[in-house]
Amino acid sequence: MKPVELELEPGDERILDGEQGETRQKMLEILVALGTVFGAERLVSVKSVQVSGASYKTIGKYGLEWLEELDARAVVPAVLNPVGMPRGRWQEMGVDPAFAEKQNAVIAAYERLGIRLECTCTPYYLNSPRYKDHLAWSESSAVSYANSVIGARTNREGGPAALAAAIIGKTPCYGLHLAANRIPQMVVEVATGGRDLSIAHYGALGYLAGKRVGNRIPYFRDIRPNADGLKALGAAMAATGAVALYHVEGVTPEASRLRFDTSGLETIGVDMREIEGVFSQVAVDAVAVGCPHCSPDELKTTALLLSGKKVKIPFYIFAAQAVIEANKDAVAAIEKSGARVYADTCMVVSPVMERYPAIMVNSGKALAYVPDMCGAVVRMGTLEECVAVATS
Ligand code: F3S
Repeated sequence: MKPVELELEPGDERILDGEQGETRQKMLEILVALGTVFGAERLVSVKSVQVSGASYKTIGKYGLEWLEELDARAVVPAVLNPVGMPRGRWQEMGVDPAFAEKQNAVIAAYERLGIRLECTCTPYYLNSPRYKDHLAWSESSAVSYANSVIGARTNREGGPAALAAAIIGKTPCYGLHLAANRIPQMVVEVATGGRDLSIAHYGALGYLAGKRVGNRIPYFRDIRPNADGLKALGAAMAATGAVALYHVEGVTPEASRLRFDTSGLETIGVDMREIEGVFSQVAVDAVAVGCPHCSPDELKTTALLLSGKKVKIPFYIFAAQAVIEANKDAVAAIEKSGARVYADTCMVVSPVMERYPAIMVNSGKALAYVPDMCGAVVRMGTLEECVAVATS
């Protein structure tokens, strides 16, 4: 039954009446229910969707059964979040065949629903959205990047709501889809002492800031991150807090175009001593980078750092398949060292990483998630330190 506050188009009414099949009816019911709870006045068309709930490690038997019951096709471009294994190289990575069978069933279910089998948390490297585009993305770091770095508009969708948006082509228009909900709510001043921060340092800053920002929209001052630094900062804040949008003065698009008035907002400070305190020195059994999945620049830098070296402990690098294919030389140079570049999966959603008692990462998000998701001690380092530890 249509709630009065959410205005639907005539075509949507027919979907709700079941004229286009049970799955489309159920999917629109999910969107209507969500919009009603959050007070949306309408649905808005989305340009693309990214669906989480793709690793069998996270969705399990019941998630797979639910997917297999559905019968419809995505009507807008939609990709998947990382799954539990690299599709073409799962045996090489040491994935249990029983897990692989279930994971392949999940992938097949999504493929049948018309979801493109690009399994990545960095869909913006495949087809970048544009400023003000409405999206329905799921994975928290991707949501943060889309909102903050690109200036597109998406809430953090749960897996079923994102899948519903892919099948209907719309999402409820509330939260970060509305300009009024995108203004800063607090200020974070970063005392770097004039130092240029590495990507890992931005991850450490996000790891700290997320705990104090919670679910508010922070406005950062005194930092000049590049795109990879922004990616690391946002991913970590979304992991230790629930930050889906942040602004950086003079850097991110809305902070540059809209000139927010931040006077009177609560201000917190983070300094270099705190940021350095996130880094540690524990011995590790494996190294993993690419959380979020590596950019082309990160792959090229890793290749340069590994040039002429051999890894002594397992060194995993994670990236989107399309980014791997577009950077074959860098990938070949990395793998010459014995390190492995895997698509489709990551150190958090792959069960393979659970075999290591201690893992080194260069990501504030991985620092937050690896202990619980992999049961491992985790050490934070820069990419240079990760390479040094893996090769010495
Ligand atoms: Fe992506 Fe996995 Fe990290 S999904 S953001 S690489 S935890």
